[in-house]
Amino acid sequence: MAFATFEVDPRLATLLGESYRSTEQAIKELVDNAWDADAERVSIRLPKPMSTEPIRVQDDGSGMIEGEIRQEYLRVARDRRASKGDRTPTKRRLVKGRKGIGKFAGLMVADVMTVETRARGVQTTLTIPRAELKSAAADLERIELPILMSPCDAADHGTTITLANLHQNQVFPSTERLKQMLVFEYGREDDFSVLINDEQLTMEDIPGEVAKEEVILENAGTVKATFTVTDPKQRGKLPGVVIRVQGKIIGLPSYLGLEEAEDIPTSVLKRLYGEIQADSLG
Ligand SMILES: Nc1ncnc2c1ncn2[C@@H]1O[C@H](COP(=O)(O)OP(=O)(O)O)[C@@H](O)[C@H]1O
Ligand SMILES: [Mg+2]
Repeated sequence: MAFATFEVDPRLATLLGESYRSTEQAIKELVDNAWDADAERVSIRLPKPMSTEPIRVQDDGSGMIEGEIRQEYLRVARDRRASKGDRTPTKRRLVKGRKGIGKFAGLMVADVMTVETRARGVQTTLTIPRAELKSAAADLERIELPILMSPCDAADHGTTITLANLHQNQVFPSTERLKQMLVFEYGREDDFSVLINDEQLTMEDIPGEVAKEEVILENAGTVKATFTVTDPKQRGKLPGVVIRVQGKIIGLPSYLGLEEAEDIPTSVLKRLYGEIQADSLG
């Protein structure tokens, strides 16, 4: 068995000083990491209420080989954008990672984190106990974490994070809260689907009153529209209406001319999320 050690960084204090307000927030960090790894699908399994089951976050992203785990994953407070730029390598997504500590968010709510990752024909497994991390707070490079490697299918890629022994004092992770935390950012990405207990996150998970309409247009066939106006407190970053043709979103969200309407205040428009499906335009 080989051992991996943490590479030290003087900004280590940020790690243990960082407080994650909820389990859902810790899970969001793992979803952000799946996005940054160019995954197309991330599947989250939440434990059944009152059970001792772990949380599992599984992605089909690039995965990591041993060297990447040691030099990139186990580096504390490393800003990947500084060395690799702010776009992901294959899908050219804007990188979400900032502080190089997101992967540890899970250890703020669980005792043991297991990383199982597959890339280029090798599966690598690493277990990080919270206790080790805490006791070595001043001296992270001293911890030796067991790393196991075994061959896997060369075409396999992706990472599965398991968080076990969840802290009892944390509020039990809720599907609803998690959806609300993820939906504005990920609810309408074409090439990134988020599943929570096998249910795919969609625009319809946006909290608020939903209105649906289906019409048949002469030159565009059946067109389905879904609109939600969210609570003022919950609005996300990119409001507006998108047009989806055969699963793909065309262009950026817009207000479809509603911004010209004098009876709709801008404050309401900024809370409008909608999607128009027009498959026959494809
Ligand atoms: N699910 C994953 N798949 C592939 N690589 C990952 C994954 N999660 C983390 N990594 C690697 O570990 C690094 C550190 O992750 P993290 O602590 O969240 O910091 P940040 O996202 O700010 O870079 C990432 O930049 C990435 O290189
Ligand atoms: Mg991250």
